[in-house]
Amino acid sequence: MSAILKENIDTLISQYQDGYSLEQAFYCSDEVYQRDMNRLISQRWLLVDHVSRIPNKGDYFLFDIGEESIIIIRQSDEKINAFFNVCRHRGSRICLEHEGNKGLLSCPYHAWTYELDGQLRPPRLMPDGFDKTQFGLHACHIKVTHGLIFVCLSKDTPPDFDAEFSEFNEMFDFHGFADAKIAVKRDYPNQCNWKLVVENFIECYHCAPAHAEYCVVHPEDQLLALGAGPGSGPKEAMEKYQPILDEWEEKSRAMGHPVYEIDHDEHSLHLAQLARLPINDRNFAAETRDGKPASNKLMGKFKQCDHGETAMVFNPISYILASNDVAMMVRFTPRDAVNTDVQLTWLVHKDAEEGVDYDADNVAWVWDVTIKQDKKITEDNNAGILSSRYQPGPYSTQEARVATFVRWYLNGIR
Ligand code: FES
Ligand SMILES: [Fe+2]
Repeated sequence: MSAILKENIDTLISQYQDGYSLEQAFYCSDEVYQRDMNRLISQRWLLVDHVSRIPNKGDYFLFDIGEESIIIIRQSDEKINAFFNVCRHRGSRICLEHEGNKGLLSCPYHAWTYELDGQLRPPRLMPDGFDKTQFGLHACHIKVTHGLIFVCLSKDTPPDFDAEFSEFNEMFDFHGFADAKIAVKRDYPNQCNWKLVVENFIECYHCAPAHAEYCVVHPEDQLLALGAGPGSGPKEAMEKYQPILDEWEEKSRAMGHPVYEIDHDEHSLHLAQLARLPINDRNFAAETRDGKPASNKLMGKFKQCDHGETAMVFNPISYILASNDVAMMVRFTPRDAVNTDVQLTWLVHKDAEEGVDYDADNVAWVWDVTIKQDKKITEDNNAGILSSRYQPGPYSTQEARVATFVRWYLNGIR
């Protein structure tokens, strides 16, 4: 359900009390949701998938977000295009299947047909003077880098991708994303507003009560200090954890591995973060049950495990968490005011063979179980927020990153 907005959005923004969760309307009103999509989500670069999903000419998949459906299709070895899935004749969806292969993009309604570069072929029975060059598919901004596909839905010039993300290049390269392949992909549709999915993902206040398995993989002092990335925990906990982090960084550096910390604040466009952290200084090289790598072929330039994990935040709905053996892409895609598609995609080295070098369930284990627990708690959160008695509540010192996110969000839609 979605609520009717009783007050003007700008009034609600101006009434926001810093350090508290948002008013009910932000989590369920269609009007707020439309504003979120128009001013924020469609104006940022979003991570959508890995190129290995569409290896051959004509391979495509759909990226459905809000009311939009974007066709991501391979035109050639070198070129991947993105188009709005909207026929230029009378507007039908063109691709109806979620993924597949097409030699041409042919509309199922009256058979207008487009080349893989979006140009319209001459349609039947159009009147004199019809200029087919004016009716190519609407292109969506796309950036393909190191095997990663990003799109931006903006009608205008998108943000400068390189200016926003050039700092990530060294880590993209080190983790070998260009030489990766998809090992597992799973979908977890959440019945809740996209901001609840984000807020939950960037705090670890709930880790102890909700995530037994995750708490086995990651030690308690780390989860408290920076369980949801740099800046997510209380200052004192971070100070206490700092010597462990310093020691791990030193070891990792000695192996020739880059160590990073980039942390953009609420005034930035993307609220990006890049940080390398130890998974667990107590013998866990990977996020697995036994701490052993989930894939025999380490990714990228890792010759040996440094027990580290790289957290890449491209924006609050696009992430990669990359270990030495496996990298997981995280996509939170708003569908309407109270529905969000969550998709996890695990990458391994392209030469790793399933059943020989890795087992898909083992690769996916900890995050599969964790994200299902997250789905439950965020849906319950949304249900409670719809009550007449809901009112914004205060954040703990372990929810510092959520407070930053909310400020960034309000800056973005203001
Ligand atoms: S709407 Fe696509 S051909 Fe008519
Ligand atoms: Fe969680």
